Amino acid sequence: MYSDKVIDHFENPRNVGQLENPSGVGTVGNAKCGDIMRIYLDIDDDGIIQDVKFKTFGCGAAVASSSMATEMVKGKTVDEALKITNRAVMEALHGLPPEKIHCSLLAEEAIHAALWDYAQKEGIEIEGLEKPKTDIGEHEHEEAPEEDY
Ligand code: FES
Repeated sequence: MYSDKVIDHFENPRNVGQLENPSGVGTVGNAKCGDIMRIYLDIDDDGIIQDVKFKTFGCGAAVASSSMATEMVKGKTVDEALKITNRAVMEALHGLPPEKIHCSLLAEEAIHAALWDYAQKEGIEIEGLEKPKTDIGEHEHEEAPEEDY
């Protein structure tokens, strides 16, 4: 039911931990399952994500999603990171079961929340970035892909 990629990132999650003086931190949760994810970003003066760490108090799919998402944003620009969707994270994980789609959404939203925090601290506006939601459950169905995962 889970791909080898999911199992690998669950058993050997990349980028676990926290950053001392992060450029931005984002914490999001899903009230339904109670899972919480926090992502720390270190962004240099050129807007490149130099380092990223995460802490996830959640299910295995959430751990795998956050591990994969952090791998995907590392070395990217802020704009590139903003474009990484939960669907892209799921594809990189070779799919997630339908009832686990919201776990990948948590990763997308945690990145957005960390970027939002960075923008607030820097006093800048990031085009296309919306104020983070504290509970991602409310729009999980909109993001569900039509095809099976
Ligand atoms: Fe909620 Fe996975 S069950 S994040």
